[in-house]
Amino acid sequence: MEETRTPMIRVKNLYKIYKVGTNKVYALNGVDATIYKGEFCAIVGPSGSGKSTLLNMLAGLEKPTKGEIVIAGKHIEKMTENQLVAFRRDNVGFIFQSYNLLKTLNAVENVALPLSFRGIPKRIRNERAKKYLKLVGLEKQMKHMANAMSGGQQQRVGIARALVVDPKIIFADEPTGNLDSKTTMEVLKLMRRIVREQNQTLIMVTHDNHIASFADRQFHIVDGEIVRTEERTEEQAEQEQAEQDEQEQEEQNEQTQDNEGE
Ligand SMILES: Nc1ncnc2c1ncn2[C@@H]1O[C@H](COP(=O)(O)OP(=O)(O)OP(=O)(O)O)[C@@H](O)[C@H]1O
Ligand SMILES: [Mg+2]
Repeated sequence: MEETRTPMIRVKNLYKIYKVGTNKVYALNGVDATIYKGEFCAIVGPSGSGKSTLLNMLAGLEKPTKGEIVIAGKHIEKMTENQLVAFRRDNVGFIFQSYNLLKTLNAVENVALPLSFRGIPKRIRNERAKKYLKLVGLEKQMKHMANAMSGGQQQRVGIARALVVDPKIIFADEPTGNLDSKTTMEVLKLMRRIVREQNQTLIMVTHDNHIASFADRQFHIVDGEIVRTEERTEEQAEQEQAEQDEQEQEEQNEQTQDNEGE
């Protein structure tokens, strides 16, 4: 099976060493990993273990002290700051813990925003924004202002905004950190469904083992080192898919009943 997968990210012997006064902090201490196209990966570990540091390196936000990061065939550790800016614009989408929506814009405008920086005409921007808002189940909230939506709805807008530029990779640092447990499950299932349907690659950081278990593969990190990787078995994946199908069927039935009642 290994041979049929396309590597999206390859990390080799990655180090990030911060100097604090005369001390050295090994935030990343020799990380090796390969992440494949279409994978939903979780980087999981306790506070201070190096999760955000690793994510920031992979997203080209910070430079490693040593080691290689190859993304879609390109060595990003060798890029200049300007090249990194272009790399992020063309390849990377972010989902933030705090959503980072503009409060005075509605859902469509928020999702369309990254496209306006690319000089795409308004009509096409809005069409694409609407397409992704539908994908995340917000067809009824398209005109809602960001601050007139629940946390879960806002994070769905955040997911649509990350997807709208069709990035090669989506990064999410504690994307459910501000959500209650029920909404957390909904958002995680949504992310998993989208990764499958769109053959997207998503890398999520979390300190929570249960949240991490929604990913196809988990990288457990302690003191800047990957100590263990864990892959969901085919069986688990199938069972989850069956549960999800069942749930979607229920939701559809409810919707049909609602419509009939109108
Ligand atoms: N700019 C910096 N200067 C010095 N040390 C840093 C810096 N950024 C991070 N560190 C240290 O590197 C280590 C890893 O930090 P990192 O933010 O990656 O942890 P984390 O796993 O994301 O933690 P959390 O779950 O709390 O967000 C920590 O010991 C932290 O104190
Ligand atoms: Mg962090």
